[in-house]
Amino acid sequence: MTATYPTVAFEEFSVAQQRTLVLIKPDAVRRGLVGEVLARLERKGLRIDQLRLRTMDAALSDAHYAEHVGREYYEGLKAFMTSGPLVSLVASGDEAIPVVRKLAGATDGRKAEPGTIRGDFSVSNQQNLIHASDSEESAKREIDLWFAS
Ligand code: CDP
Ligand code: MG
Repeated sequence: MTATYPTVAFEEFSVAQQRTLVLIKPDAVRRGLVGEVLARLERKGLRIDQLRLRTMDAALSDAHYAEHVGREYYEGLKAFMTSGPLVSLVASGDEAIPVVRKLAGATDGRKAEPGTIRGDFSVSNQQNLIHASDSEESAKREIDLWFAS
């Protein structure tokens, strides 16, 4: 005899809707991995609210990476980030900020867990395919910076 299970609608308890800024970096665009990264965000259940192909200039790099300006790796990072088009987007959903950070994986692709975007596609501490806001404060600042107009 086949058991039947009634469909029950569950309401999730107290989930925080968040918006986060994602950059699909120039290495991902060059390697044809834009679709792969977008698909992972979508399959996870996040919404894409805004999406744009754009090339970063030096001023936008300095503003976006303000806390990194002056670090020994910053000039290399700026050269990389301004080297070609990237995709900027706003993703939203339940706890979207930590969820996307987890999908991205650790900064260094060599150390990032397999199953994460960086862990599956990067062996670099710089060319690591994706940027994702790290807090509500950064998300607000970065969304304003990239999508003010
Ligand atoms: O992107 P994430 O927040 O994981 O890392 P971060 O420490 O905030 O660094 C920002 C970005 O700078 C990284 O994603 C790398 O692309 C780059 N970076 C680098 O080129 N060399 C380093 N030693 C550290 C970071
Ligand atoms: Mg960071």
